[in-house]
Amino acid sequence: MPTITRLPRVTTAQSLALASTLALPALAQGVIVRRPLGVRLAAVTGADDRAIRLLTRLRAEHGDGPLLVRLPRRGWAVLPLAARDVRAVLDDRAFTPANKEKRGALGHFEPDAVLITPEQELRDRRRALNEQVVRTGFEPFTRVVEEESATLPRDGVLTWPRFHAAHWRIVRRIVLGDGARDDVRLTRQLDRLRRDANWSYLVGRRTDVHNAFKRRLAGHLARAEPGSLAAVLARTHAAADVHPEGQVPHWLFAYDAAAIAAWRALALLAAHPGPLDHARLRAAVLESVRLWPTTLAILRDTTGPTAWDVPEGTVVVIYSPYVNRAEPGHGYRPELWREGGSGGSGGEGTWAGVPFSAGFARCPGEDLVLFTATTLLGALLRGRSVEASVSLADPLPATLDHFRLSFTIKAAER
Ligand code: HEM
Repeated sequence: MPTITRLPRVTTAQSLALASTLALPALAQGVIVRRPLGVRLAAVTGADDRAIRLLTRLRAEHGDGPLLVRLPRRGWAVLPLAARDVRAVLDDRAFTPANKEKRGALGHFEPDAVLITPEQELRDRRRALNEQVVRTGFEPFTRVVEEESATLPRDGVLTWPRFHAAHWRIVRRIVLGDGARDDVRLTRQLDRLRRDANWSYLVGRRTDVHNAFKRRLAGHLARAEPGSLAAVLARTHAAADVHPEGQVPHWLFAYDAAAIAAWRALALLAAHPGPLDHARLRAAVLESVRLWPTTLAILRDTTGPTAWDVPEGTVVVIYSPYVNRAEPGHGYRPELWREGGSGGSGGEGTWAGVPFSAGFARCPGEDLVLFTATTLLGALLRGRSVEASVSLADPLPATLDHFRLSFTIKAAER
C-alpha cells in the first residue's frame, strides 16, 4: 500500500488571511487579462509581497509539506510550497490541468484548447498538434520582429500602450500572417472574451462575440499565409476532434503575456547593463517571468487517489509568485538560466520556479516566446539607450506594474 500523507490544515483565521491577502489581490489583478487598476492597487499596497510573506510564515509554522485549506462551496484546496511537491504535482497525471475554474475561464474563448481537455487520449493528440506547430522553425519571424521594432521611437518616451500595440502586430503576423497585421478588431474581440474569462464560470458566455471572433479568425487561417503558424497548421494532419483551429485562440492569448515579459525584461536589462549577447537577453526574459510570473497560479484538480488524504476533485493551487522566489530568492539571478545549464523547472538541477510550468503540460510555446522576446529586445537595444521609469534594485518587489512602466529612449552613439 502506498503511504498516504496527512496534510497540515491551516486554521480558520489563516484561511481568511489567505483569502484576503493572496486570493483577492490575484483575482483583482485579473488572471486571464490584467486590469490596470487591480495591478496598480497591488503595486501600491505591496499585495504580492504580503502574500509571499504570509506563505513563508505558514510554512515556518506548518512545515514544508503542502498546506490544506478549506474553501467555502468548493471543498479543499492544496497549496504546494516546496519545489519537490510542485514537481510531483505537475508530473502526475492524477492531477488534471483541466481544472474546474480554468475550464470556466478559458471556456469563454477557447473551449477546445488542449489545456482544458479532460479526456487524456484526446489531450495527448491535441498536445501533439500544438507541439508540431508552435515548435516550428522560427527564422521567418526575425523579419517581422525587426520591422515592428523599427516602428518604435528612437528618441523620447516609450510607453506601454505603444509597445503593446507593436507587440500585438508581431503576434498577429507570426500566428496568422502579414494580412492580420492591422486587425486590431480581432484582438479587441479576444480581449472582450478574456475580460469575461477573468470571472470564470460566474458570468455567462458571450456567444455573439465568440462567434464573431471565430469567424474572423477562420478568415485569417484560411489564407494559410507562408511564413506564419497558420501555414504550418494548414499542412499538419489532425483528426477533426483535435479541432486544430480551436487551438489558435490559446496561442494569441498566451503570446500576449510575452509582451509583459519582454517589457519587464527591458527594465531588468536597463538596471543591469551589459553586452547585447543572446545569453544575457534570454536570461533577462526568463528572470522576468520567474520574478513576475504572468501565470499567477497554476491550477490542477485531483482526479483519483494521490499521495495525500484529499478527496477527488480537490483543487491544487501552485502560487507562482511564491514558488518561483522561495528558493532562488528575490534578487536578479540571470545565472540561473545559463544555456545548457541546469536552470529551469524540468530537470533535477537548480530550482528556478515554474514560469512555464513543468511536466506533461509544460508550455510548448516557451522557445517561441524566448525567440520573439530576445529578437525584439536585441532589435530595440541596438542603436538605442534606454532608461526605465523605475529603479530596480534587489530585493525586487513582487509586483511590477507594467502599465505604468515606461522608458526614456535615446539614439545611442555607434
Ligand atoms: C510569456 C509567455 C508565456 C508564458 C509565461 C507561458 C506559460 C505557460 C504555463 C505556465 C502553462 C501551463 C498552464 C497550466 O498548466 O495551467 C502554459 C501552457 C501552454 N502554453 Fe504557454 N506560456 C507563454 C506563451 C505561450 C505561447 C506564445 C504559446 C503558443 C504559441 C503557448 C502555448 C501553450 C499551450 C498550448 C499550453 C498548454 C499545454 C498543455 O496543456 O499541454 N504559450 N504556458
